[in-house]
Amino acid sequence: MKLDPRLTRRGFIQTAATSSIALGWLGSGRPPMALAADASKPAILGGIPVHQGGWTPWPQWDQSWEPQMLKVFRSGRWFRGSDERVAEFERSYARLLGAKRCLATASGTTALIVSLHVMDVDAGDEVIVSPYTFIATYNAILNRRALPVFADTDPATMTLDPATIESRVTERTRAIMPVHIFGMPCEMEAITPLARKHKLAVIEDACQAWLAEYRGRKCGLLGDLGCFSFQESKHLPSGEGGAVISLNENLIDKCDSFHNCGRAAGSNQGNGYFTRGENYRMTQAQAVMLIQQLDKLVRETETRRASADYLSANLGQIPGIIPVRLPENCRPAWHLYPFRYEPAHFNGLSRDQFARAMAAEGVPCGGIYREQYHEGLLDEAIASRGFKRLWSADRLKAYRESFHELKGNRQVCETTVAMTQNLLLTDRAGLDDILEAIRKIQAHSAALVKAVG
Ligand SMILES: Cc1ncc(COP(=O)(O)O)c(C=O)c1O
Repeated sequence: MKLDPRLTRRGFIQTAATSSIALGWLGSGRPPMALAADASKPAILGGIPVHQGGWTPWPQWDQSWEPQMLKVFRSGRWFRGSDERVAEFERSYARLLGAKRCLATASGTTALIVSLHVMDVDAGDEVIVSPYTFIATYNAILNRRALPVFADTDPATMTLDPATIESRVTERTRAIMPVHIFGMPCEMEAITPLARKHKLAVIEDACQAWLAEYRGRKCGLLGDLGCFSFQESKHLPSGEGGAVISLNENLIDKCDSFHNCGRAAGSNQGNGYFTRGENYRMTQAQAVMLIQQLDKLVRETETRRASADYLSANLGQIPGIIPVRLPENCRPAWHLYPFRYEPAHFNGLSRDQFARAMAAEGVPCGGIYREQYHEGLLDEAIASRGFKRLWSADRLKAYRESFHELKGNRQVCETTVAMTQNLLLTDRAGLDDILEAIRKIQAHSAALVKAVG
């Protein structure tokens, strides 16, 4: 299926951050506010949009960051080994999260690859992982020439269903990689005992979960290693960037070596290469951008939480809109704010038609992840010479067939609607507009089905 680029997660995030996408999604060239338009009519049918004036743009730049940035650029000390700013960021991020140590990396993907290597995930191993995630999670495992084995997604929580993990364990399984998707913590108290029982490493994909908390502990510190992304769309952005954190210093030393050409941990330059390695280093400029945004991250995280709580309390009152069920005693980061959508309560208006009608009302939202395991990437991987050498044809056939068992994940992929985090940085009136837009579309859903169906 060819997808409109605006409906891919990153395309969607970019569009939502920069503009009202009502016009684009309508594709009709109709002005958003026709003269003498009827306010009660859905905007997609020529009425007045509920929300006017856009949303908080993302990413944000603050001129007060510029002197520090210029200092780095003018110094010519740009590479990790030339100065101390990357190490300073690592200390600050570790302190903020309560980690023993942090290693900064070039991206979230490289943070995941480093972690898999350090937890000894090797060619021919298997990693049990959430299927409902950005594709980088799959790719990091494939990069180790290991097999991403999907446990199912719990439709109520949208995260890894712990009850479906154990049946996936084989003698080749080395690790579990839970993904705190949209910054919503996985049910780790059910996952980590299973890992212990089967002697598996736990690598958290916390790439969307900065400052998220589960039972009083920060995501990223609930397993062996936790990975973060600082890509441009993220809550703590530096264009690209990532980090690995841990309570185990020895593991971070190993991460340090592997991400820096195999040099001894902490030795930024020199020719002593004692282990295999890559170059996954962060630059000084990235670090300086990040250091200056840490207080902002803390403040905005609280705003997003308050907004999400308000939306969840009110969306739960609208038939056919199902807010996500969170684990007890957790505080999400809300990289996106998702809910499940039931067309039956909207006269059969499809999820995509609903999203288009919402966009026309000035509230960009949409379906996010698809069933990516059916889209070719994994077929390409398991058809490669390397994978065919590493697994029997029978195992790969059973692996391919197992994707059809992921019924919870299919339901989540088909019914989720999500809004990007910048919509949560609005005021109460903005949140009320979101609720009002949904109610308006529901009230007019029969007419919408007729008009756009
Ligand atoms: C869940 C998840 N995992 C991994 C990544 C990879 O991070 P990066 O884009 O920084 O490589 C992302 C980034 O979008 C992500 O959302």
